[in-house]
Amino acid sequence: MKVCRRETFNAAHRLYDARWSDEKNFEVFGKCSNPNFHGHNYVLETWVDGPIDADTGYVIDLKMLKHLIRDEISERFDHRNLNLDCPEFKDLKPSAENIAYVIWHLLRPKLDAKYQLSVRLWETENNIVEYAGI
Ligand code: NI
Repeated sequence: MKVCRRETFNAAHRLYDARWSDEKNFEVFGKCSNPNFHGHNYVLETWVDGPIDADTGYVIDLKMLKHLIRDEISERFDHRNLNLDCPEFKDLKPSAENIAYVIWHLLRPKLDAKYQLSVRLWETENNIVEYAGI
């Protein structure tokens, strides 16, 4: 059984590679390479897969999951500049893929081993990535 908690956060980023020219960065990353950064309204879906607990009827207490996401993810990334404010992206481009990867690794150790975890990150209405640890 899979359950999901949906949360949103707003953050700024810039995708660029310092080894490349501005032209090459624009060619590869488009407007996401604009030097003065830009924001996204990220939608984070945290999916937890596990058995239904016979006592509670829950897979996981979604209130607990909500607090975990707030403490580990929102507090860290909401209203931040991912490139400048967040050490997680000091040497890692803050693409949707890498953000989902980082989020998964922040949440995984906080969840019981009986659960499988998958994070789905919506960068825009149309661009979505998913990471499940493999
Ligand atoms: Ni962008």
